[in-house]
Amino acid sequence: MRALVYNGPRDVSIRDMQDAKIERPHDVVLKIIMTNICGSDLHMYEGRTDMETGRILGHESLGEVIEVGDAVDRVKMGDLVCVPFNVACGFCENCERGLTGFCLTCNPGSAGAAYGFAGMGPYSGGQAELLRVPYADFNCLVLPKDAREKLRDYVMLSDIFPTGWHSTELAGVKSGESVVVYGAGPVGLMAAYSALIKGASKVMVVDNHPDRLKLAESIGAIAIDNSRGDAVEQVLDMTEGVGAHRGCECVGYQCHDHYGHECNHLTMNHLVASVRPTGGIGCVGVFVPKDPKAEDELAKMGKMAFDFGTFWFKGQTLKTGQANVKAYNRYLARLIEAGRAKPSFIVSQELSLEEAPKAYEHFDKRDAGWTKVLLRPGV
Ligand SMILES: NC(=O)c1ccc[n+]([C@@H]2O[C@H](COP(=O)([O-])OP(=O)(O)OC[C@H]3O[C@@H](n4cnc5c(N)ncnc54)[C@H](O)[C@@H]3O)[C@@H](O)[C@H]2O)c1
Ligand SMILES: [Zn+2]
Ligand SMILES: [Zn+2]
Repeated sequence: MRALVYNGPRDVSIRDMQDAKIERPHDVVLKIIMTNICGSDLHMYEGRTDMETGRILGHESLGEVIEVGDAVDRVKMGDLVCVPFNVACGFCENCERGLTGFCLTCNPGSAGAAYGFAGMGPYSGGQAELLRVPYADFNCLVLPKDAREKLRDYVMLSDIFPTGWHSTELAGVKSGESVVVYGAGPVGLMAAYSALIKGASKVMVVDNHPDRLKLAESIGAIAIDNSRGDAVEQVLDMTEGVGAHRGCECVGYQCHDHYGHECNHLTMNHLVASVRPTGGIGCVGVFVPKDPKAEDELAKMGKMAFDFGTFWFKGQTLKTGQANVKAYNRYLARLIEAGRAKPSFIVSQELSLEEAPKAYEHFDKRDAGWTKVLLRPGV
């Protein structure tokens, strides 16, 4: 099968790889119809993780079931399914509690597994013609009847729509509240979209890319360009000086100032400053236990100069982590089916798998007009 392989920093290529196949009786194999490039792939692409060379990337997959293991009961040949980026067992203590992003079975010795991901188990990625899905009865979301007409929407259920939603859950967003989102990448846009669906009264989105901020405005959020003045001041100005009720971190450890200088505490400290006392912060942007290639000494050790005193004094709360996609994807699918959500509004390109290396280059540079790339293997 053809697949996108990580060769080293900023070097990926499409190669012939061994076909994905059933390895255990609870597996299925998908013929991938659509798979996306994610901001999480970029941490690996840039060589800022310990991703092994030779591995297939990709964790946002939608496909057709073409092989079914003997122990699979529910999922059938020909089903169109979207799989969460998390690989989860469904029966461990965390999975039982709905915390499938922290499965204790699929990446032994750690909590949480994912396809094509550094440090999250041996699972091959979905930026390929075929994908093996373990514990398929648990992990496959069989899509509604209108799936073929809404592929671009349903594929967002693999990661970023549930992840954006998760950030609003972690922050505790309730209807009528104000929300500030740092990052207008795909995840930040999905966080803003989720907050609006939940009935937030005011949603502010901070970034410095005009094309991404325009997308935020297109759904009714307020764009805050941090290259045109301090983001915190702008948020305070729009919230009677007290700050937003809730804040979402959708950038991660490679956050930077608008000149591009990385500073890993920037967004977290801006959140502490622009969320009101007793407000909630949900952090889904990825932070890592060590980042040897960072310039900052603390960042190298996975630490940051966090404004803990102000955070404590304001009585804020903070929740973090990988999204438990399974906890939301079925319900978000119903919003799509009912026409109440259309997460495809962020899609900027739909390309063949062969074009993926070029797409990585553009998306990595955050070139204007490269917000979310969908890949169509076999097209
Ligand atoms: N927790 C999860 O389950 C989960 C799932 C998917 C992605 N993620 C993570 O979410 C983060 C965002 O993903 P994405 O696909 O949107 O990536 P992205 O890199 O395309 O978007 C990040 C955006 O943040 C902006 N940004 C950078 N510094 C900023 C700052 N100081 N203030 C405001 N905005 C700033 C960038 O300009 C960019 O538009 C990544 O860290 C990704 O790994 C986490
Ligand atoms: Zn992703
Ligand atoms: Zn589990």
